[in-house]
Amino acid sequence: MKVVGTQKSQILASRIARELDEELVTTRFSRFPDGEHYLQTGSLDDRTVIVGSLTDSDALIQLLLLIDACQASENILVLPYMGYARQDKQFNPGEPISARAIGRALGAEVSRVITVQVHEPGVLTHFGVPATTLSPVKDVTRFITTAGFSDPLILAPDVGAERFAAAIAREGRWEHDHLIKTRITGEEVRMEPKRLAVEQRTAVIVDDIISTGGTLATASRMLLDQGARAVHAVCVHGIFTGGAYALLINAGIVGVAASDTIESGYSRYSVAADIAQALKEC
Ligand code: R5P
Repeated sequence: MKVVGTQKSQILASRIARELDEELVTTRFSRFPDGEHYLQTGSLDDRTVIVGSLTDSDALIQLLLLIDACQASENILVLPYMGYARQDKQFNPGEPISARAIGRALGAEVSRVITVQVHEPGVLTHFGVPATTLSPVKDVTRFITTAGFSDPLILAPDVGAERFAAAIAREGRWEHDHLIKTRITGEEVRMEPKRLAVEQRTAVIVDDIISTGGTLATASRMLLDQGARAVHAVCVHGIFTGGAYALLINAGIVGVAASDTIESGYSRYSVAADIAQALKEC
């Protein structure tokens, strides 16, 4: 087995290769004068693992080119962050189901797909090949434990993230809850834990994605108003669109952490071991 990665997923690809004790194949990436992507990989194996997070359209093109270049008898696609997964249904007439379009395009020439904390697991069927999603519950729990927060209250920002928060809390033997939104007036919304009081507690909000930071910034302001001692944010996929980090800090969040599915200065824990384990098992 050999491991190859897109340009922005080189660090995670090399961590996975190291965990597997397999070779990381070097790839040369460049552009033609008109902007089209070009790449050239080294020699590959019968079984190739292609690693690439779908962070932007360049990553999508590189993934398609890499899959085409890897004429192995078995190509396994590791899509640590599956972008476009949030448009998983037609919300308005005329819209695409973007997750389906991406799944069909990327699943066509691979034999298996492994993702991490995909936004909605139902989208995995669109790949048309066996596809799984890994949840880095143990990695997040280890990160929170190592950070040394005192008696943290694990909070999901909405009911969609409740299962993730509950699993982390169970692993770390902490309390957990999810936030509910109540509309006070036409414009005014209140967000608070459904069951537990946050007063004098260290709140750790966990979510799959931080993108604009809007969800967690609103939650943080509300929790601090309700007397939380400190608010931390831990996500899996740190997209951090322009200004997101500043927004979070401005909302009083004292620490922000993400995994290395999208490598950045906020990547504080790795999902490489989980991916390597899943690869060993398939
Ligand atoms: C929503 O369902 C997701 O789980 C995240 O809460 C959301 O994508 C975060 O986005 P933002 O950081 O832009 O508020």
